[in-house]
Amino acid sequence: MAKYAVPRGTKDILPDETALWQRLESACRRVFGLYNYGEIRTPIFEATDLFARSIGVSSDIVSKEMYEFKDRKGRSLTLRPEATAPVVRAALENNLIGPDKLTKLYYIGPMFRYERPQAGRQRQFHQAGVEVFGSADPLVDAEIILLNLQLFQELGLNDLSVNLNSVGCSVCRPDYRQKLKEYFHDKVKKMCADCLNRYETNTLRILDCKEAGCQAALEGAPAAVASLCPECLAHFQAAIKTLDYQQVNFVVNKRLVRGLDYYTRTTFEIIAPSLGAQNAISGGGRYDGLVETLGGKPTPAAGFAVGMERVITLMTNDAVPAGQTARMGRQECLMTNEGDIILYLVTLGEEAKKLGFDQLVKLRKKGISAEIDYLGRSLKAQLKTADRLGVKYVYIIGEAELKQGQGILKKMATAEQKEIKFDSLEEEIKL
Ligand code: HAM
Repeated sequence: MAKYAVPRGTKDILPDETALWQRLESACRRVFGLYNYGEIRTPIFEATDLFARSIGVSSDIVSKEMYEFKDRKGRSLTLRPEATAPVVRAALENNLIGPDKLTKLYYIGPMFRYERPQAGRQRQFHQAGVEVFGSADPLVDAEIILLNLQLFQELGLNDLSVNLNSVGCSVCRPDYRQKLKEYFHDKVKKMCADCLNRYETNTLRILDCKEAGCQAALEGAPAAVASLCPECLAHFQAAIKTLDYQQVNFVVNKRLVRGLDYYTRTTFEIIAPSLGAQNAISGGGRYDGLVETLGGKPTPAAGFAVGMERVITLMTNDAVPAGQTARMGRQECLMTNEGDIILYLVTLGEEAKKLGFDQLVKLRKKGISAEIDYLGRSLKAQLKTADRLGVKYVYIIGEAELKQGQGILKKMATAEQKEIKFDSLEEEIKL
C-alpha cells in the first residue's frame, strides 16, 4: 500500500480521465472565444481580505471554508475559493476596466474550499468562468446564460434546468431582508442551528437551507421579486423577455439566493438533476457593486462559473463518444483563433439593438464569432471598437435599415459595402 494518500477532498486526475478534461477545457476556450472573452490567469492565492470583503464575512465560504495561512512575513493569505474577486482585483490593478469600456474575461483553474467532501463536492475543484465588466444592460445577463447553455450543449449535456432569480440592489434588498425577518421571526426557533444563525447574520441565506426539517417554513417565504424596486423589476423583466424570446427554458426560483454576498439583480444556476444532491453545474449572476467595493469606480458586472468536476461526471455518464463532444465541430466553426471576432454588429437605437442581439445569437449558435455594443455608444465609437477587434465585417443596423429588414454589411479589408437582408447575413459572410 502507498505510504501517502491524496489529501481528503482532492483527487488525482489520471491519464484515462485527462482526455475528457482536455475536451472540456478546449470546449470552454472555443465557446468563450466565440463570445469575445479573453483568458486571464490570476494567482492561486490572494490576500485573505480580498475574499472577506467581496464574498462576505458571514458567508459559509469565508466563515468556514477558507484555506487561510500566514506566509513567512505573517501576512494572511488564502487559497482562492472562487475567481470573481481575484479577477476584479487583477482587472483593477491592470487598468482593464474603465469607463465606457466593455471588458470580457474568462478563466479556468483550481479553487479551494474546506467543505465536507461528498459526491460532487471536493476541497480542491476546478471552475471555468467568465466575467463581463462595464454594462448594466439586461442583454448581458441574457448573453452569459446563453453562452453557458451553448457550452453545455456543445458538450452534449441534456436534461438541464435553468433556475433564475433577482436579488435586487442596495435600494430594495433591505426591504426584502426586513420582510424575511418578519416572516421567519416566529418560525426560526424551530429551524436548524444554521438558520438560527443566518437569521441574524445573513437572512437571505436561510432560503438556501437544505435541512428537511426547515423546508415547510421555507415554502411560504416571500419572494425577492415581489420586493424589487421599479428599476430592478424592469431589469429582471427585460432579461426574462430576452431569454423567453431566445426560447431558453427556465424557471424563476424564488429561493435562489446564492452563497456569495456580492450578487445584485439577476442570479442563476444551471442544474443537472441526475447528479443528486450536488446538482448545480454552474452558477452566477450580476454583481454591480463589487468593483466599487474593491476600490474601483462604480462598474456594473456579471459572470458565472462552471463546476468542472460535475460536468466531467455528466460527460462520463452521458458517454459522449470522443470526437462527438462538440455538437458544432471545429471544422464547422468559422472562428479561426480564440479571440478572433469575425463580425461586429453596429446598432443604433434600442430597437436596432434588440434585433442586432437576435442576429448575434444566431451567428454564435452557428459558431460564427461576433460582438455587439452593450454601452449605447455612438456609431463612431462602435466602428472604432470593431476596428480594434480586427473584425472582417461590420453589419450596421440603424433606423432606416430596421424598416427595410436589412443592414449594411461592410467588408473591412476593401471597405466595400452592400445591403444584406437580416435572413441572408449568415450565408453572405460564409462566402
Ligand atoms: P459558486 O456557485 O460558488 O459560484 O460556484 C460555481 C460552481 O462551482 C458551482 O455551481 C459548482 O458546480 C462548482 N462548485 C462549487 N463548490 C464546489 C465544490 N466544493 N466541489 C465541486 N464543485 C464545486 C462562484 O464561485 C462564483 N464565483 C461564480 C460567479 C462568477 N459569479 C459571478 N461570476
